[in-house]
Amino acid sequence: MSAQIIDGKKLAELVRTEWSARAEKLIQLGIKPGLAVIIVGDNAASSIYVRNKVRACSEIGIYSEVHNFPQHADQDEVLQCIQALNQNPHIHGILVQLPLPAHFENNRVIASIAVEKDVDGFHHYNVGALVTGNTIFSPCTPYGVMVMLERNRIPIEGQHAVVIGRSNIVGKPMAFMLLEQGATVTICTSKTRNLQQFTKNADILVVATGKPRMVTAGMVKPGAVVIDVGINRLPDGKLCGDVDYDAVKEVAGFITPVPGGVGPMTITMLLCNTILAAERAQT
Ligand code: GUN
Repeated sequence: MSAQIIDGKKLAELVRTEWSARAEKLIQLGIKPGLAVIIVGDNAASSIYVRNKVRACSEIGIYSEVHNFPQHADQDEVLQCIQALNQNPHIHGILVQLPLPAHFENNRVIASIAVEKDVDGFHHYNVGALVTGNTIFSPCTPYGVMVMLERNRIPIEGQHAVVIGRSNIVGKPMAFMLLEQGATVTICTSKTRNLQQFTKNADILVVATGKPRMVTAGMVKPGAVVIDVGINRLPDGKLCGDVDYDAVKEVAGFITPVPGGVGPMTITMLLCNTILAAERAQT
């Protein structure tokens, strides 16, 4: 039997409708939620992501501003900009689009964002809070995955979740969020020896490797929930995930498509975190 498709686009619309009521409530109190996005250099993918974030903000009633810096920008200039945004009462969320150019110290830049405005949840303090079960902001992509599981009534407690990928943006926070909900979690990478031996035992398999179609049908337990975080462009221009969708959907119980799966949820959770930051700022 073919897997149930988890439609991220549809769910993202539903979650946005729910949160737009919260944004509206703030606006009526004279508080317009505000997001500042910092982008350094001319990474084509980053520019597209930022454009999509700005558009999504305006659709839900969030004020947004983009601070563009050239590729050769000085780190101190960016740090000064973040300092000013930290003090700006109209800005509730600050996001530094990654990757930064090689001459930047990612950790220093992220650590300069005020903890209460770090809507990506990447600041060390917020990472520590998440790991200790005191989450302040959930990083947007794993947050979106958790909402997908929850809204599809997929049980997590006691399940074996396997996460392939160990990035600070997806893999690590994903593993801790699943652990917090009672899953037994295994973290693998694309280089894990006998990867299949782990994936075959996964009730929930989250793939975030950036390797096109690396998870094949033979690696998946029948009936498993397969979440594909990857988005890769093939030589023919088409997009595909890290999972061989056509084959795996014949084995899995649930599967997310690419595009139209995790992607729309990521941006939605950024909007939610920005509204949450604005709500907190008024109390
Ligand atoms: N680059 C790729 N994904 C992300 C993300 O979720 N946040 C930021 N800031 N940069 C990214």
